[in-house]
Amino acid sequence: MAGIDTNCMTLTRFVMEEQKKHPGASGDLTMLLQALMTAVKAVQTAVRRAGIANLYGFQGTTNVQGEEVKKLDVLANDCFINMLKSSYSTCLMVSEENETVIEVETEKQGKYIVTFDPLDGSSNIDCLVSIGSIFGIYRKVSEGAPGLADALQPGTQLVCAGYALYGSATMVVISTSKESGVHGFMLDPTIGEFVLTHPTITLAPKGKSIYSLNEGYAGTWNEAVKEYVNNKKFPKNGKSYSSRYVGSMVADVHRTLVYGGIFMYPSSASAPKGKLRLMYEANPMAFIVENAGGLASTGSGRILDVQPSSIHERCPVFLGSSTEVNEIIELYKKHNIQ
Ligand code: AHG
Ligand code: MN
Ligand code: MN
Repeated sequence: MAGIDTNCMTLTRFVMEEQKKHPGASGDLTMLLQALMTAVKAVQTAVRRAGIANLYGFQGTTNVQGEEVKKLDVLANDCFINMLKSSYSTCLMVSEENETVIEVETEKQGKYIVTFDPLDGSSNIDCLVSIGSIFGIYRKVSEGAPGLADALQPGTQLVCAGYALYGSATMVVISTSKESGVHGFMLDPTIGEFVLTHPTITLAPKGKSIYSLNEGYAGTWNEAVKEYVNNKKFPKNGKSYSSRYVGSMVADVHRTLVYGGIFMYPSSASAPKGKLRLMYEANPMAFIVENAGGLASTGSGRILDVQPSSIHERCPVFLGSSTEVNEIIELYKKHNIQ
């Protein structure tokens, strides 16, 4: 039938085919991803109906980082927690919205740890600008009951990571390794399934000439960031770069993945590690970007190599096309910034 793919590659089908490549696989990761996708579908429906269902505005509380919590933040967090708990695949969760790790009831525990930002870009909710969700999946490493040590793993140990973008369409981008690549699945609302539309997303070493950061903070930048942005605005040769900044990490990273360029959230004097959180913002995005052929750096080291010491710690972020990120790394060396 015209316009209907009678044999479409859904995310579930894709994950099951991946699972079959590993004969010893238990299918738990497939179950986990299935639960995550149910949460994403519920959140995307809430996002699309928020204006009608009276879901805009504040919950009236602040989270552990002292940020005002929106109603959609709470709803999204509940969706992720409940779906993951009932998937029998997860033993521990780290959420932006929960002060401490969330332990799953013993009888429902599985072998995975999931870190997530249930709703990213909260400040953009009420004005209908793109928002998203971010997640990272690790294997439990300790013997016995799951604990903090299982959560505090560097990004190099990620088994899978991804994000959902609630933009002009809803898309999930996911990766399990560099070898198996980064793939994008768009939600087809008519069948309620994520369909493979962007197989093997790759980031060219030099994509479009775009830089992306909050320019309002220019007064707080270090010398490396100042010099980098200045070079892009006033190039010695050729055309100047375009500046794009949505203010939702998921949207800014997705654009960077599709068009190329660089996304930056540097440190400042008052925020020596920047704003973005290592475990559920920086690491999953760094994993995706690296697996697509790009780079993800703190300026002085690889993001995925950072050993977390607390679940809500922050980390400076420079990610995107390798040419751009390498330029920042060189400037960090030149100005001797750690
Ligand atoms: P969250 O809504 O999960 O708290 O995350 C907001 C983050 C991120 O999405 C974005 O890149 C950044 O905050 C924007 O911060 P500024 O407003 O400081 O530019
Ligand atoms: Mn966020
Ligand atoms: Mn958030």
